[in-house]
Amino acid sequence: MKTAVVLGTRPEIIKMSPVIRELQKQQADYFIIHTGQHYSYNMDRVFFEQLKLPEARYNLEAGSGTHGAQTARILAGLEKVLLSEKPDVVLVQGDTNTVLAGALAAAKLHIQVGHVEAGLRSYDRNMPEEINRILTDHCSDYLFAPTEKAQTILLGEGIPRDKISVTGNTILDAVQQNLEIAYANGNILNSLNLQPESFFLVTLHRQENVDDPARFGSILQALDAMTSLYQLPVIYPIHPRSRKMLQEFNFQPRNLTLLDPVDFFGFLQLEKYARLILTDSGGVQEESCILGTPCVTLRDNTERPETLDVGANILAGTGREKILECVSLMLPKNGGWQNPFGDGKAGERIYLVINDNWETIIASKYLY
Ligand code: UD1
Ligand code: UDP
Repeated sequence: MKTAVVLGTRPEIIKMSPVIRELQKQQADYFIIHTGQHYSYNMDRVFFEQLKLPEARYNLEAGSGTHGAQTARILAGLEKVLLSEKPDVVLVQGDTNTVLAGALAAAKLHIQVGHVEAGLRSYDRNMPEEINRILTDHCSDYLFAPTEKAQTILLGEGIPRDKISVTGNTILDAVQQNLEIAYANGNILNSLNLQPESFFLVTLHRQENVDDPARFGSILQALDAMTSLYQLPVIYPIHPRSRKMLQEFNFQPRNLTLLDPVDFFGFLQLEKYARLILTDSGGVQEESCILGTPCVTLRDNTERPETLDVGANILAGTGREKILECVSLMLPKNGGWQNPFGDGKAGERIYLVINDNWETIIASKYLY
């Protein structure tokens, strides 16, 4: 089973790492295609280095651009590689333009597509990611749903049950595999002069938030208010899209501590020891839930409702007052909720399913 792993952005590198490790462990015939959607050192290379991932055989260097141009460059680049490598299956993870182009390029060439993290829906088609998720799911042959809820959504859209496996989310594998290593790798709290439980952590990069001056501005006002209300620092490792928009709108959030994007080991420590996390990131909602840190999501919806159901997360939208109200509601929480994302063996299951190893899967009750 020749497997091509397609990835291109920060969350895909992190969430695909457990699958790549499993392919490595099994000495499988596989290779990585990096689309180059993310390319800055701290959005790309640092994760290959820290997670000790093998080099990509190809880098398509697609770079940034409008949705159409970026997706098209990835699609054309991938087609060439897939035609010459002829893999049996292409694996993609998540909901980025890389994922859509990967799934489409493979499906058109009649190569099987495996979608890791299938079945997530925000039901908000203004999000570019929602379009990518729906289209990818509907041209995939293997749908790796992270939770039962995601499976139910796929079944409701008419996807046959035998294409779907509930695997757990590979982010849990990634956190479990790396948390101890992260602590051993240095103490980011010391280097930032932070005390555990005495700072807020923020990430914010969704197009619909940071490209809109009213929404971005209102969130920044709420964060600014938090610094004086709680007398705690607000640490904001800033995504390059948001950095660019901050400059474009001439926002100067003086009371926030802006950092360049942090490496994965440092970021895990910040998440673990934050008093509370505010975010519009999908992966950060999941990680805060796994690590026991309360989360306020700066969006009107989420495709991760499991985090709301267990009480780890709340939807605040982007209005100043509602954000402050949600922060005060979540602050008294101190973890202890159930982890809804499986048992940390999603990577193994994905490997077994694409290799048709049903005996092992059934014997070890591998699918829930
Ligand atoms: C993309 C994904 C989003 C995901 C996010 C993860 C799509 C539609 N969006 O958003 O779902 O949550 O990645 O972080 O696929 N830039 C750099 N260096 C980089 C990458 C980007 O400076 O390495 C800057 C460029 O100015 C670029 C902007 O960030 O124009 C946006 O990058 P892009 O890849 O288009 O989208 P993201 O916002 O990163
Ligand atoms: N992350 C990181 N450094 C940071 C911010 C985030 O390593 O400064 C990691 C985080 O641990 C998570 C992933 O990036 O695993 C989430 O990616 P992002 O928020 O860019 O995308 P999304 O999950 O929203 O698609």
